[in-house]
Amino acid sequence: MFGAVQFGIFAAFIVLFVPMGLAGWHLSRNKMLFFSGALFITLAVGVHLTPYFPSITDFVSSLSVTSVVSNRNSCISFLHEIVWDVRDSNKVLWGWERSTPVVACEFQKLSRVEASVLLNGSWIVVVGDSQARLVVLSLLNLVMDGEEMGSIRGDLFKRHSDYKIVIEKIGVKLEFLWAPYAYNVTELLTEFKKNRRYPDVLVMGSGLWHMLHVTNSSEYGDSLGNVRKSVVSLLSTEFGNDGPVTGSVSVQSPHLFWLGMPTLINSMLNTEDKRKKMNGVMQDAYDRELYQSKLLRQSGGPLLLLDIKSLSGRCGVMCTVDGMHYDEHVYEAAVHIMLNALLIDSQQRL
Ligand SMILES: *[C@@H]1O[C@H](CO)[C@@H](O)[C@H](O)[C@H]1NC(C)=O
Ligand SMILES: *[C@@H]1O[C@H](CO)[C@@H](O)[C@H](O)[C@H]1NC(C)=O
Ligand SMILES: *[C@@H]1O[C@H](CO)[C@@H](O)[C@H](O)[C@H]1NC(C)=O
Repeated sequence: MFGAVQFGIFAAFIVLFVPMGLAGWHLSRNKMLFFSGALFITLAVGVHLTPYFPSITDFVSSLSVTSVVSNRNSCISFLHEIVWDVRDSNKVLWGWERSTPVVACEFQKLSRVEASVLLNGSWIVVVGDSQARLVVLSLLNLVMDGEEMGSIRGDLFKRHSDYKIVIEKIGVKLEFLWAPYAYNVTELLTEFKKNRRYPDVLVMGSGLWHMLHVTNSSEYGDSLGNVRKSVVSLLSTEFGNDGPVTGSVSVQSPHLFWLGMPTLINSMLNTEDKRKKMNGVMQDAYDRELYQSKLLRQSGGPLLLLDIKSLSGRCGVMCTVDGMHYDEHVYEAAVHIMLNALLIDSQQRL
């Protein structure tokens, strides 16, 4: 029987040299098919026999775990692997899935102190509609205590207005900028670029207003295209490979997030107009435009999605009263996903 290491080396040789050899020998098509078939069967038999050789199993599993841990960037794709336990609307619990790759990523719900250390001294801007405001509220809930929250809740909930707060004890400046449409997001990006001052963390999102008041997905796609252009131009002129432009205040490029739309539960929406326009077909069309816009990292773009649709959808009907705005736990999960992404991006560990 092979030892684990020898088996690993042997497998690597098969995988590396057999196809290389085939390419070098210019085999006829039939021979090629024969060899690739033989290679496939060899590997398949190997995989099925593996469980009977404990040393190999250990070796393989230790390999996959270390590769996940050593490359924490791959953990980004597991950030939304969250499970919900919703007994009733007053008892909502959430946590990361306990599957092997997710556990290996060591995601954590940050405590108030940990979040304060992580965000210490940073400028955070959240741009968007009421969903974005709820994310700001969750972030404040995490870093401030109940008494402090009581005094600011009223200000934060003035409808359709901006909100700004400096949390002195951790030197955090947090801003919410009311931007119901993607055009408004683009405008704000243009302004950052003009002033050449950039937040450390920038979360943006929009879509619900457009769906309700414009109800044209291809036009929404166009407006997202403009957001993408602004982001890309901002990143390339100020934070390109040549390093920061001299005299620029920011040195490090901002951490950028896109706040996705929630799952809309049509029958619960609170006006006839919403129920008619914000239907399943329209939601799918708007989602498609987001993915096609190449705004998100998944499609090669610059922004990491905070997937409110998946979080709210899994939390379900018991987590919303109007089919659009969800229980605080949904936005709390989004905030912890963002903080864990910041930890990964900055290669920091608490
Ligand atoms: C924030 O940073 C400052 C200076 O770097 C430090 O003095 C302070 O203790 C930090 N506060 C927290 C809560 O980490
Ligand atoms: C957002 O953009 C629309 C369309 O360009 C504009 O009418 C509106 O005033 C803007 N709102 C804000 C808050 O900038
Ligand atoms: C939707 O917007 C596009 C422009 O992006 C326009 O060409 C099209 O006519 C609009 N569709 C409707 C139904 O208004």
